[in-house]
This record gives sequence, C-alpha cells and structure tokens, in this order.
Amino acid sequence: MTLITFDERNQVFHLSNKTISYIIGLERAAYLSHLYFGKAIKRYHNSRKYPLIDRSFSPNPAGLPLKTRDFSLDVLPQEMPSHGHGDFRNPAVQIKQVNGSSITDFVYDSYEIIAGKPALKRLPATYVESDSEAETLVITLVDRLLDLTLKLSYTIFADRQVIARNSFLENKGQESVIIKKIASASLDLVSQDLELISLAGRHNKEREIERQTVQRGTRIIDSKRGSSSHQANPFIALVSSKTDEFTGTAIGLALVYSGNHEMLVERDQFEQTRVMAGINPFSFEWELAPSQSFQSPEALLVFSDQGLNGMSQAFHDVLQNRLARGKFRHADRPILINNWEATYFDFNTDKIKAIVDGAADLGIELFVLDDGWFGKREDDTSGLGDWFENTDKLSGGLAGISDYVHGKNMSFGLWFEPEMVNADSDLYRAHPDYALQIPNRSISTSRDQYVLDFSRKDVRETIIARMRHILDTVNIDYIKWDMNRSLTDVYSSTLDSANQGEVFHRYVLGLYEMLETLTTEYDHILWEGCSGGGGRFDPGFLYYMPQSWTSDNTDAVERLDIQYGTSLLYPISSMGSHVSVVPNHQTHRVTGLDIRGDVAMSGVFGYELNVQDMTIAEKVTVSEQVAFYKQHRQLLQYGKFHRLVSPFETSHAAWLFVNPDKSQAIAFYFRKFAESAGPLHTIKFAGLDPEKVYQVNGEASYGGDELMHVGIYLDPFMVGDYQSRKFVIDEVI
Ligand code: GLA
Repeated sequence: MTLITFDERNQVFHLSNKTISYIIGLERAAYLSHLYFGKAIKRYHNSRKYPLIDRSFSPNPAGLPLKTRDFSLDVLPQEMPSHGHGDFRNPAVQIKQVNGSSITDFVYDSYEIIAGKPALKRLPATYVESDSEAETLVITLVDRLLDLTLKLSYTIFADRQVIARNSFLENKGQESVIIKKIASASLDLVSQDLELISLAGRHNKEREIERQTVQRGTRIIDSKRGSSSHQANPFIALVSSKTDEFTGTAIGLALVYSGNHEMLVERDQFEQTRVMAGINPFSFEWELAPSQSFQSPEALLVFSDQGLNGMSQAFHDVLQNRLARGKFRHADRPILINNWEATYFDFNTDKIKAIVDGAADLGIELFVLDDGWFGKREDDTSGLGDWFENTDKLSGGLAGISDYVHGKNMSFGLWFEPEMVNADSDLYRAHPDYALQIPNRSISTSRDQYVLDFSRKDVRETIIARMRHILDTVNIDYIKWDMNRSLTDVYSSTLDSANQGEVFHRYVLGLYEMLETLTTEYDHILWEGCSGGGGRFDPGFLYYMPQSWTSDNTDAVERLDIQYGTSLLYPISSMGSHVSVVPNHQTHRVTGLDIRGDVAMSGVFGYELNVQDMTIAEKVTVSEQVAFYKQHRQLLQYGKFHRLVSPFETSHAAWLFVNPDKSQAIAFYFRKFAESAGPLHTIKFAGLDPEKVYQVNGEASYGGDELMHVGIYLDPFMVGDYQSRKFVIDEVI
C-alpha cells in the first residue's frame, strides 16, 4: 500500500491513509508549506495553493531564483519556520553561529520515502512491528552557508489517525553551532475558527481541561520544572468552536518527552494559527560540534472529525499499542493494594503482613510496599539514595515479606525514588557532588530532598547498582518509580560552563537510558511511573512504563475530573486508580464505598488502605468489587473508552467502555451533588452497534440505536451526593 506520494508537477507531498491526509507543499523549490491536515483526500489536485499577495511589511526572502514581491515567509503557512528572512512569528528552529548570528536559511534539498518507521536514538517513540504498518517521509533541508542538514521525519501509519514527526539536525560544517531551539513539529493552520484545549493542573489536581478561543498573540503551555509536570501536560488540541465529545474536528498534538516542553500556539496578523511542540527553548542551549547530530523528541499529531472522543480514541490506540512496550502492554494488570495511605512511614513486618492477609482474603492480587523500607527513613526528611533494606524496621527483610506475599498467591511490588537524595543520607554524605547544584551556592530543597545529577553516568550507575542488588536478591514483580520534586539548581559539575544549557535535556536522556536498561533487564516486572501522583504522566514515560499513578488525590469526586481530563490523551490501561478510606486524606470528604469503587475501577484498579480496618459489610463490598473487576478486566482496561458527560461542565460525569465486537459495554454514571426536586436526567450511551439488541443490567432489552440516541432515564429516586451507577450492557443473542 502506498501511503506517501510526491506530485512532481505540483511539488506536493501527500501522506494519506483511509482516514487522514497530511499535505506539504514545496514552494519555489525552497520552502515547505503546510497545506492540509485533516480527513483523508483520495487524490489531491492542489486546491489549497497559497494565494500570492504583496502584503505591506512582509519581506521577500533573498535566496530565491526569482524574487517577487508577493512571496513572503511572513504569511506562508509553513512546516519548519525560522526567523530572520521575513517570518516574524515564532520560529521552530534557531541556531547560534560563531559570528553571533542566530539566523539560518534552511531550504529544501531532497526527500526519501522509507518503509516502516526508524527508531529514534536515545529517545522514546512510537514504533512499528512490521514495515508494512507505516511509511516515513524524510525531507532534508540544508543551510548551505553553515553546512547544516535538518531532516524532518513524518511517519504515517496505515491504520491509525496519527502522524509522528521529529527533527534531526546534523552539523556537517567546520564550526560548532549552538542550538537554541529545535521544535519537533510545527504547522500553520489557516482555519479561523479555532479553540485551544490544554491540560493544566497542580499537585493533587492534575490535567484539568481548559478550553479557550485562540486569539492573536502567543500562548505557551510549558514546563520549566525539569519534568513534564502536574502543571502543564505536553498536550494540546485545536478544535472548532462547535466540536464536542462526539462531533466536530480536532487536531491533537502530544510530545513524547518527559522533560521541559513547550507547546506553543500563535495566532498571526491574518488570523492563521501556528502550532508547535518541542523541547522548551527556555534554559536550553546545545552545542553541536562538527560531525555531531541532535535528535528532537517525537511529536504525535492526531486528526479526528468525530469530536474529542475520536481524537482520544486515536491517541489511546497508538499510545497503548505502539508506544507502550513489554509484556504488560496487553496483559491483564493486577488489582493491587498499596500500604502508603494505610501506614505512611509507620509500619513494621507485622503491620504489613496484616494488610497482606486481609487483601489476600478479598482476592487482591498484588501487594505494593511503598516508601519507607530502606535506609534511615522514618519520615520524608532522610534516607533517599540509601537503597538498602532497613531490617530493623522489617524483621525478615524484604525477601521475607516477598516470600510471605507470594505464599498468599499474590505478587509483590516495591517503591523506589531513584532520582533523589536526602542531605541526611549516607549517599549524600559520601558524594555531595552527586546532587544538582550551582558552585558556591546552597541547594534549594523541596520535601527536604535534592535531585541527583542524572546527566552523569557515574551517578546513574551508582543507583542502578543499588537497585540491581535489591532486584536480584528479592522476588519483585512490580516497581513504582517515583519522583517527588521539581528540578532546581540545574548545573552539572562535569560539564563546561559553555554547556550548562544542556543539563536539563541531558538529565532526561540519562534518565531514559537508565529506564531502558532497567526495564529491559527486568522485563518480567510491571513498572509504574509516579511523580507525587501524576506529575510525570506523559507519553515519554509510557514508553518505558505502561502505567502511571494518576494522582495522589484519591478522593472519588475530584478523581472524576482528574481521570476525565487524563483520558483526553492517555489510555485507561495507563491510569492507576485506587480506593482509599474516608474521610479522604486529601479532601476530607466522605463518600460511599460504591462510588469510590466505581471511580477506581474506571482505571487500573487497586486499593490504598488497610482492609483489616473495614467492617464485614465493607469487606463484602470490596470482594464484590474485586470479583466484578476480574470478570470485566479486559473490557475495563482495554475496551474502547467513550466519555459521555463531562464533570467539568456539569455536576455529573459518565463514561463507557465497549469491547471490540460491540457485544458488551459497561457504562458508569456519577452524580456529584444531589438536587432538591431536580429535573429528570437521561443517559445516552455511545459506541454500540445500532443493529444489535442489548440487555441492560440483565433486565430490559433495547436496541443499540435506542440506547445511543434515545437513552434511558437515570434512577429518579437516587438520593444524596456522590452517587454512582453501573450499566452492564450485553448483546442479546
Ligand atoms: C508520592 C507518591 C505517593 C507515595 C509517596 C511516598 O507522593 O505519589 O503515592 O508513594 O510519594 O513518599
């Protein structure tokens, strides 16, 4: 199947599959213009030829064979714009040269179409399992004066609504240059009707959906924290004002990167909108010596004409099937119990065994021992870095606990925070230089800890050796990889002063190298990412770890927003979600066990409490929840997810999971607040087969079309706040 063509006569590249087209023009044999990204076009005849207009104050680039006053980069929708020859919008690439100039002139040189999708060196990226799954267009641009080569890669998958892009710069010249900025993807949209959706947040309130009209000027969603952050997820969507969950167009843009990112949206004077994603140019400078190259992270672009659900489902599909890797990519994820909220640091072997006993009786499958099992770690002020088991606290040691857990037919998991060190630790006392720090200045603390300089191989190797020792001597099935502060004092003692702008990115590269090593070596382990909850819930991390702790906030009501927002980009199989006690430890809210269970089983299910403290009735409910989840686990972890009602717009929420042949679906409805003498509410389902007949909760039967378009009334006698309902929808055969 041909997915990419080049039309010589019109000088147009067309990437197309059954659902989407991405079209690039070659203007004046020199500049790449962005012509179209949207619904598939069978044969493109160059209808979107950019009108040439002589605009005032719009300069004409020098390097063209035929200079005309009506061709200006100031207005041309482009693919990889730069500054300095007439485009006054935000550049995608900026490179400083020995003579002090940061102006480059990258012009078209050649192209190549490759079967499949080449891997990215040292960076996470989507992949193919056979070359027939995708084609990649590599367009080479050159700056002839500097002898720099910029290769832009575009992969189109045969069966996915996704374009994967990246940029690769090679210095073939004689002098070093400094990369100040290199975007992974940039495109200019000509539609004026655009709204921007982003996922903003904070610790305990991650990924809240924000939507605003795109207006003139620049809006930047970025992280300067060294990680993708709770505050600004590396994702944006550009939608029409009419787009909702089910209808309308959406372009989603996600960056496969876990460090400082910049997602940029700029509306120009003519109401065109530039959209860009890449490493944050803030505090970034990368020296590229002769014959060296630089690989940008990957950006993923999705087009949907079926609303936000269509966009999310396309992202879920690619993230789950062609970004996540390893044995757990499609495997049943175990129901876990974690001792953090049950004990915090205050535990010993007996307490842990009691939690395990209770959990085993109720059918829970994995016990995770959280923070506090190592070094001198009685609270969060000491011990990080000393990854040696604390046998005073845990008589019988980790191996004893692991054996005990396995003896109960459960698997055993352990918490690590490998990137950090406390000042009060043996590691720091022996190697104070291992922490990121600026010469002659004291280091800023956060949760009383410092960040290890993971740009340094020796530092990483010390931690790897300590982790290996534990992993080789204790039978461990799961690891939670935590990271509980943002990066400050970013400076590496091993780099020259001229190269300090590289530290943020080198940290991420070092981290990725370590994750690659450990997750390959210990590929039988289920790895879960975490950063104070969901502070590093990003596509880059998903490549190494198929699931992530969604938020430290386990309150069922606040979780509705968090999980709804997270699902905009991330598959359900990646979202760790646990039932905890009430009053909830984060909000002090009291909710019923049913809604806590229903919210948690809308993700990768688990508990974070001591079941021994529960009443008999509560234990019965837990065992029912566990049994229900086990029975429907495939559907709940890997079914097609449809958001139905947004908790951001109403005081309700609803969503639904459908299996591949649409013979079964499970929907959840949640009500935050009761209304006195309120209106009647209906729920309309989605994603069912209109031709099929379904039974709802084993009772009445309805047509699929009826359930989707007419809907059913919600229980009018539901009382109280924080209610939830499940609908198990089975095809009647
Ligand atoms: C972070 C995590 C929690 C827990 C604590 C332990 O906050 O998100 O789940 O592991 O660290 O210190």
